[in-house]
Amino acid sequence: MQGRESSFRVVHVSDTHLAATTYRRHGAPAAICRSNWSIVADEIRALSPNLLVHGGDILFEDPDDQASRLYARSELDRLGVRWRTVPGNHDVGDGPPDPVFGQTVSPERCDAHERTFDATPWVERHRDWTLIGINSQLFGTGWAAEDDQWAVLEDAASAHDGGSTALFMHKPPFLRRFDEPDASSAAVPPEARKRLRRLVETGPIRLIACGHRHEHRVCMWEQCAVVTAPSTAFSLHEGTPPFAGDAGFPGAIEYEFGARRLHWRLVAPDGLTRQDERFFAAAPSPRLADAIAGRT
Ligand SMILES: [Fe+2]
Ligand SMILES: [Fe+2]
Repeated sequence: MQGRESSFRVVHVSDTHLAATTYRRHGAPAAICRSNWSIVADEIRALSPNLLVHGGDILFEDPDDQASRLYARSELDRLGVRWRTVPGNHDVGDGPPDPVFGQTVSPERCDAHERTFDATPWVERHRDWTLIGINSQLFGTGWAAEDDQWAVLEDAASAHDGGSTALFMHKPPFLRRFDEPDASSAAVPPEARKRLRRLVETGPIRLIACGHRHEHRVCMWEQCAVVTAPSTAFSLHEGTPPFAGDAGFPGAIEYEFGARRLHWRLVAPDGLTRQDERFFAAAPSPRLADAIAGRT
């Protein structure tokens, strides 16, 4: 218990896909997203971490859905826990090379997220650990905001004084390996992956905590753990290759950042309902129907 009390505890929740109660489509799946969130929210209150990090895709689907944005903000405020966010592709639109559902990242959508929640990049220092949160949808845009974010990231990830760094972002840096060349909406673009890899291999980044894939996975790259949080809302009916098949279970991750150590565990309270993403294809909005047809 001594180690637990002296450590900095973070709950990382991702891909909650919350919709305001008036959401006009996908009523039943959206209700499951909300009820699962409610169960996880009770668990977060019970755990009472030092910090909650929402890893993105806080909105159900539409990055311009301001009603759901306000609803999600009110849900975070009801936790009674200090929180931070990093935006997901359904919050601010998606970056290159292949935006999900054709929802493209824009400065206006990033501003809307930051006005309602908080701004990225953010940096916090707690004893031996530096925590950084960034907007992974900026990677590959070439915007000044991307350059500024790299500067903050590279500065915070190098000036460590013997400590360690944890990076929170929505998208995973890779699907299988840091040296893979793949370009898709499932992970950050290849150029950003190369630059992150250099930081990981030469600096103190010991954790990359991400989401987006709606499945819990852990990969090690040298001394860095890449931990993908599950979604609380729904999973994928086929896992990320090469792990085909099972959709996984909803939940969240609890971290304990201690002196020269890092522990994590899956948080999966009783009562969560399992569903997968096929409801989008089963009852899509017209815009989503076009997007899905074009992608399959
Ligand atoms: Fe998601
Ligand atoms: Fe996502």
